[in-house]
Amino acid sequence: MKILKSVLQVRTFVNVLRLKICIIWRCLNDITMYNPFSLENKTILVTGASSGIGRGIAVECAKMGAKVVVTGRNKERLFETLSLLVNTGHSAILADLSSQEGIEHLVDEMPLINGYVHSAGILKLCPVKYIDRSVLEEIVNTNEIAPIVLTSMLVRKKKLVKKASIVFIASMSGVFVTNTGESSYAAAKGALSGFAKSAALELASQGTRVNTICPAMVPTKLSGLFDTAFSDGGVVETAHTKYPLRRVGTPEDIANGVIYLLSDASSWVTGINLLIDGGFCLM
Ligand SMILES: NC(=O)c1ccc[n+]([C@@H]2O[C@H](COP(=O)([O-])OP(=O)(O)OC[C@H]3O[C@@H](n4cnc5c(N)ncnc54)[C@H](OP(=O)(O)O)[C@@H]3O)[C@@H](O)[C@H]2O)c1
Repeated sequence: MKILKSVLQVRTFVNVLRLKICIIWRCLNDITMYNPFSLENKTILVTGASSGIGRGIAVECAKMGAKVVVTGRNKERLFETLSLLVNTGHSAILADLSSQEGIEHLVDEMPLINGYVHSAGILKLCPVKYIDRSVLEEIVNTNEIAPIVLTSMLVRKKKLVKKASIVFIASMSGVFVTNTGESSYAAAKGALSGFAKSAALELASQGTRVNTICPAMVPTKLSGLFDTAFSDGGVVETAHTKYPLRRVGTPEDIANGVIYLLSDASSWVTGINLLIDGGFCLM
């Protein structure tokens, strides 16, 4: 009788222990699974994904669980980006966004999306007195007209699912500060920020959010143009001294802001210019 009692006690103890372990395991799982920044079950279009910031955004979005549609003009570099994406279900579409046909081709080929990140852009430095129509048109065409026309077409062709998020990579130049030689570029980026605010208001009724990110210097092919444009050189090399946080940016710094704006963590955020600048604008 005594032996039976102790066996029953041991059994009860083991069962209670099992139950407790089970509860702790579930709690731990809930804690580790909880991630308001997750991009699971979202399909995201990233333009300018063949290089620099756009490539970084595509790579980080895939790590957060998104299916990514990458687009750019250079086939080799675009497919290199595709090969860098973790998990499966990603795709690549070649398109030149400076033409109407290029934009139409992209929209026709792409699936329904939950998010659109426009990183495609060009920088051409030109002092005010040398600006002519052709330089201006080239800059405005890629940096301003392309994202506006693409947004309009995505809405018209119903390519955005409900509660979609649009993120434009603008610049601190033209929205917060600017620099000599950048007037055309700043004009295009400032206009893009203005468009984003108005579009945010208009598309809010469908739950679509529209925001811009305004980066300071991130060494890429594009920012490297500063060095070739200025005769004293070394602009990118010495840039970190102008940043309170003592470094220039990385594509990942920008991608982390993009992930926030694409994710449900920012579901009450629309029409903002998110400045990511290492403190540059404080000085
Ligand atoms: N880097 C910075 O310091 C900095 C600072 C503030 C804002 N930004 C903005 O960040 C964005 C990305 O710049 P980045 O530094 O990553 O430059 P990047 O390395 O030169 O990349 C630019 C991307 O834009 C694409 N692109 C350019 N013209 C295009 C067109 N007509 N059609 C389709 N794609 C086109 C390029 O595609 P292909 O290479 O395939 O032609 C490339 O993928 C730009 O909008 C830029 O204005 C950059």
